Amino acid sequence: MGMIVPRIKLGSQGLEVSKQGLGCMGMSAFHGPPKPESDMIKLIHHAINSGVTFLDTSDAYGPHTNEVLIGKALKGGMREKVQLASKFAVFHQDGKWETRGDPAYVRLACESSLKRLDVDCIDLYYVHRIDTSVPIEITMGELKKLVEEGKVKYIGLSEASPSTIRRAHAVHPITAVQIEWSLWSRDAEEELIPTCRELGIGIVPYSPLGSGFLSVGPKMFETASQGDIRKAFYPRFHDENLESNKLIYEKICVMAASKGCSPSQLALAWVHHRGDDVSPIPGTTKIDNLKDNVGALSVKLTREDMAQLSTLADNVKGERYASMARTWKNADTPPLESWKGEA
Ligand code: ATR
Repeated sequence: MGMIVPRIKLGSQGLEVSKQGLGCMGMSAFHGPPKPESDMIKLIHHAINSGVTFLDTSDAYGPHTNEVLIGKALKGGMREKVQLASKFAVFHQDGKWETRGDPAYVRLACESSLKRLDVDCIDLYYVHRIDTSVPIEITMGELKKLVEEGKVKYIGLSEASPSTIRRAHAVHPITAVQIEWSLWSRDAEEELIPTCRELGIGIVPYSPLGSGFLSVGPKMFETASQGDIRKAFYPRFHDENLESNKLIYEKICVMAASKGCSPSQLALAWVHHRGDDVSPIPGTTKIDNLKDNVGALSVKLTREDMAQLSTLADNVKGERYASMARTWKNADTPPLESWKGEA
């Protein structure tokens, strides 16, 4: 007996997605070794058949292998059933993360992603991280051409500052902004989310489960495997913060038990209750966890529950990211007039 996954309008340009998506990153990257391809294809098909049709990938996951995996999963009539989101601009080179948003790179990245995904068009194409050496208008100018050519349907930004969102939106309407938003990552609430709402832009929260910590707590590190970057790169998982952050997980468990749901469901339900313009993309590599997460859509939270949850992670210790990521707080781009390159 499954529940029907609701659909929402994401942004004001006509894109409609499932109220919850599927983050595909961990199938291929950052969370340990790549998971077996046939299992992941089964999982993706299970998601689509359950109504979770909003799939999230990036050329940075693998790199490249996650898009190839999604491409395979979309064979045999699945493509038409999904809203396919991918991203560009970030790559790892000579031991560090680089970002490029210049027009030649935008085009090359998109055409390469289309080949790997083996599709004619990407439904939602995000700038994964903002290149702070290129005016956002220049990046958007090329993305707009890709829309006109039919290679991309809708444009999104990830980890973009409010001022970058406004400038981008003036060049071509932005459909969605992807941002970390969860019980313990709420810095977007003050200005970024209100900016999206003012402009009619949909919100796609990533890491709604705190990368798994809000679901399983410190247990997630018991089986930590090689290639799982979370323990090393996420300050909240460092030993000096872990004991304290464990208390947050324990509070979630207590409240989840009283609501008769799982910790993941409680964390996701909180995100779902933040609005009809919000579609979180929890990542999972397991069908059972996917089912659990779909169940979050049936969890009803009262005003009192929301109030209780709103203070639950007030004492979180550690930043959400270390050096590996440029976050929206330092992602403004230079003025358009300063651009000396080709537009
Ligand atoms: P990220 O952006 O890092 O993918 P996330 O979506 O907040 O972060 O959380 C993903 C993590 O939560 C994954 O490690 C996933 O583990 P599995 O691949 O083993 O499922 C874990 N996770 C997702 N849903 C879960 C659930 N219902 N119960 C337990 N763990 C879950």
